[in-house]
Order: sequence, then C-alpha cells, then structure tokens
Amino acid sequence: MEVTKSLLLALAIALFLVAMVNADDNTVKPIVKIVKGKKVCDKGWECKGWSAYCCNQTISDYFQSYQFENLFSKRNSPVAHAVGFWDYHSFITAAAEYQPHGFGTTGGKKTGMKEVSAFLGHVGSKTSCGYGVATGGPLAWGLCYNKEMSPSKLYCDDYYKFTYPCSPGASYHGRGALPLYWNYNYGEAGEALKVDLLNHPEYIEQNATLAFQAAIWRWMTPAKKHQPSAHEAFVGTWKPTKNDTLAKRVPGFGTTMNVLYGDQVCGKGDDESMNNMVSHYLYYLDLVGVGREEAGPHEVLSCAEQEAFNPSSSSSS
Ligand SMILES: *[C@@H]1O[C@H](CO)[C@@H](O)[C@H](O)[C@H]1NC(C)=O
Ligand SMILES: *[C@@H]1O[C@H](CO)[C@@H](O)[C@H](O)[C@H]1NC(C)=O
Ligand SMILES: *[C@@H]1O[C@H](CO)[C@@H](O)[C@H](O)[C@H]1NC(C)=O
Repeated sequence: MEVTKSLLLALAIALFLVAMVNADDNTVKPIVKIVKGKKVCDKGWECKGWSAYCCNQTISDYFQSYQFENLFSKRNSPVAHAVGFWDYHSFITAAAEYQPHGFGTTGGKKTGMKEVSAFLGHVGSKTSCGYGVATGGPLAWGLCYNKEMSPSKLYCDDYYKFTYPCSPGASYHGRGALPLYWNYNYGEAGEALKVDLLNHPEYIEQNATLAFQAAIWRWMTPAKKHQPSAHEAFVGTWKPTKNDTLAKRVPGFGTTMNVLYGDQVCGKGDDESMNNMVSHYLYYLDLVGVGREEAGPHEVLSCAEQEAFNPSSSSSS
C-alpha cells in the first residue's frame, strides 16, 4: 500500500516536472517559410501575415495575464472609474494586429518586454487616478479611467471641417488607453482601424479592444512623414539625423514622449507629467521582471533637454 502511494507520488512529481518543462516552452511554434531568401513566419491569429517579426516570440509568450494584473492591480477597485472595462485579453487581441509590424516582436524577448513596459507605462500614466495618497501607491492605479470625466469642451477643430467634419452632437474629448482628443485624431484613427470613430467616438469607451488598438496605432504611427513613430524611437530602428542629435533626440523612452507629446512635456527640465510617465515605465520594468536598471541612462529615459519634433506653435492643438 505504502509502496503504491509513493510510486504514485513519484509519478505525479515526474508528470509535474514534464509539465513544467513544457510550460517553459509553451510558445506556439510559428509556421516558417522562405520568401526571397528571407525567413518569414505565421503564427495564427496572434501574428499573421508572413512577417519576419512573427518568427520571434510574441507578447503572450513573455507577458502573461498575471503580469497584466500586477501592473494594473487597482483598476477594478470600487473607487476606480472604469471597473470591469479593461482586461488582458483585449490588450493581447489588439496587439495581435501590430505584432506582424514589430510591436513587441522587434529584437529579442528582452526588447519586447521593454517595449510592452514602455507602451503600458504611457498608458498607465495617462489613465491613472492615483494621486500619491491612494493605497498601493500612486503607480498602482493605471487603467483607472477610460475617458475624460468632465470635459470642458467638444474638441471640435473647424480647421478640419472638410477632412474630418465633426458629427452633430458628438464630443471628441479624451477616450481610450492613450486618450484620443479632437475630431482629427478620432478621424485618423478611425481610418486606420476601419471603424467610423468620427461619427461614433463613443465606441472607444465601449470596447477595450478598440481602445487598445487606437493606442497601439498611435504608438506605431509617426505624427509626420520622415519622423519616427514612438515604436521606432523606442526600439532603435530609427536612426537620428544630425538635426536630431543637435536637438538631443536619441533612441529610447525619452523620445517616445517627444513623439507623442512634444513640447507639452519635453524640453522643460523636470516636468511633472514627464516624470510621471518615466516613473510608470520604471515601475512596470520592475514588475515584469526586466528591472529598472535596464532602462538606460537619464538622457535616454528623459526628454527634459530635448527639443520637440513639432513645436506646438506650428500645430493647431
Ligand atoms: C528576432 O529576435 C532576434 C533575437 O532573438 C533579433 O536578433 C531579431 O532582430 C528579431 N527579428 C526581428 C525581425 O526583429
Ligand atoms: C470591439 O472592437 C474590435 C476591434 O475593432 C471588434 O473586432 C469587436 O467586434 C468589437 N466588439 C464589439 C462588442 O463591438
Ligand atoms: C534641420 O533643422 C533646420 C533648422 O531647424 C531646418 O531648417 C532643416 O530643414 C532641418 N533638416 C532636416 C533634414 O530636417
């Protein structure tokens, strides 16, 4: 009897170990083919379209549901403002569209984890309702909001009345994971995502997948031609020109803030909003297990000394 028991126990342990080994290699193997001498892959819904990026690990291979829960641990607390809205599944579904283009799949696993932390660091900072006194600390409150709570205007810019005309009665206040503002931003995002956001800006606050998609679209898309996207600025596929170097713009997290917010946060020294984004990024690097020491030196992390790509005097917002 005892012998049977210990045999069963040994068997159970053996099975457990086998499962562990497999769990470590639970990545879905992509289908590989060679096109014009280059290896490209397809990994089903999560990374399709025969892209070299799909040969690499995809986000769900290294960023799992429990990590999302750790990063955004307070989002469903009773005092949060978007309880039940945001979830891991929506993020992964949204990311799937952009993984064949390198989102989270450029470089190796570590670069991927850093990019996800950087992107979500922006998201956490923009959607936080932690004010320093909140339990869990101010960095635990990302994804507390999914929209601007008391908009003071409709954010309808008449300059775009022919390209992105405002829909009667619609309000283009901040919504989403990297909140969209203004008719032209809803219009552009809607075109890219093939959803009529100009006439239905409210879709963003009704659908977390769409909210994440719009945010990743923003991250992956340059504001202007010949400028990097936040993604390219972060992973280093962007090579700074002489002008960039003179303007102290170098690949890294600092330049992602320059791409997304320009002189609203950059070139102003110790800006509070800039520091808040950096703090979220560093906190997430720790939580996902990369560690903040991998973030690089101050001049890469910050945009305190950078000149904006697009000075706001020359843009309409
Ligand atoms: C895939 O990952 C490897 C490192 O594991 C990296 O060298 C390569 O550049 C990545 N592929 C792409 C297309 O980024
Ligand atoms: C949410 O948006 C996604 C992406 O655009 C879409 O595929 C999905 O059908 C939407 N869900 C609902 C309930 O409308
Ligand atoms: C470099 O900056 C100067 C002065 O701001 C500008 O006139 C010039 O067009 C820029 N060159 C490039 C290649 O962006």
